[in-house]
Parts: sequence; structure tokens; C-alpha cells
Amino acid sequence: MNAVFEKLLGSIEKIANNPTAKANKLKSICDLLAGSLSGYDWVGFYLVDSEKRDELILGPFSGEPTEHIRIKFGQGICGQAAEKEDTIIIDDVGKESNYLSCNIRVKSEIVLPLFKNGKIVGELDIDSHQPARFKEPDNNFLKRVADVVSRIF
Ligand code: SME
Repeated sequence: MNAVFEKLLGSIEKIANNPTAKANKLKSICDLLAGSLSGYDWVGFYLVDSEKRDELILGPFSGEPTEHIRIKFGQGICGQAAEKEDTIIIDDVGKESNYLSCNIRVKSEIVLPLFKNGKIVGELDIDSHQPARFKEPDNNFLKRVADVVSRIF
């Protein structure tokens, strides 16, 4: 992993260990990622509704507000990633039929599930105004971020 990613991961581990509320930690991580990496234009968390279990609720985020506050499993990229319990990377959102747009400037997206005790508890969702922004180095870095973030839940 490159030095920038290593440094960010260290900062994220520190945030995760802060004695502050979960929402504060998640928001700090969004702000750090969005403020540090070019093309990370919207960074946010969706949390699995603990009662319904098949619906995501928008959590802390950094970037423009989105109308997608609740997303059912299966709907859009986020809902598909939740259903599959797997990472989804979209190089060109314009080619997706099952996609929820929150900003016409978004060109590519990555969604990583977060697990706690083997169960999906949320997702890290990142949108980019650049096409095909999320390549192997970013994906490896973000998997490690997701592992650290899972410990906050
Ligand atoms: N594009 C996502 C919706 C969430 S917004 O990007 C913040 C989707 O298709 O699920």
C-alpha cells in the first residue's frame, strides 16, 4: 500500500479508537477520506436498519446531501451490495439500470459492506465525478478501511 494510504489508515485507526460516539467517528472518517483523496467526491455510510434488516438508512456522510435516505436491499448499487454481502465497483454508472442517482456529476462508485460478527451492519459508499475512479490500490485500501470501521459497530 502506498504511503498516503498507510498514513490515512493510521489516522482512521486513531479515529476508531477515540472515546467518542460512533456517529462522530464515522463522520470524521468520511471527512478525512473526502478531504484527502482526489475524486472521492461523496463519502458516506449506510447502516442496516436493525429492526427491518432489509433496509439501509443513510448515516454520516461528507459531500452533497442525497435524497436516498432509505434504500431497500436489492435497490440501486447500495441495495445490491447489501443483498450480495459483497463489494460492488461501478466504472460507469450511466450503464447501470439498477442505480439510484443522487447527483448527475457522479460517474463511478464503490460500495463495501461492513460486517460485525459475520453479519452485515452497514456499508461504506463512495461516489466519484471521475469515471472508473476505483482501481485495485484504492480497493485494497478501502477493504482495510472497512475492516477498521467494522470494529466501531
Ligand atoms: N448511488 C447509490 C445511492 C446512494 S448515493 O450514491 C449517495 C445507489 O445506486 O445505491
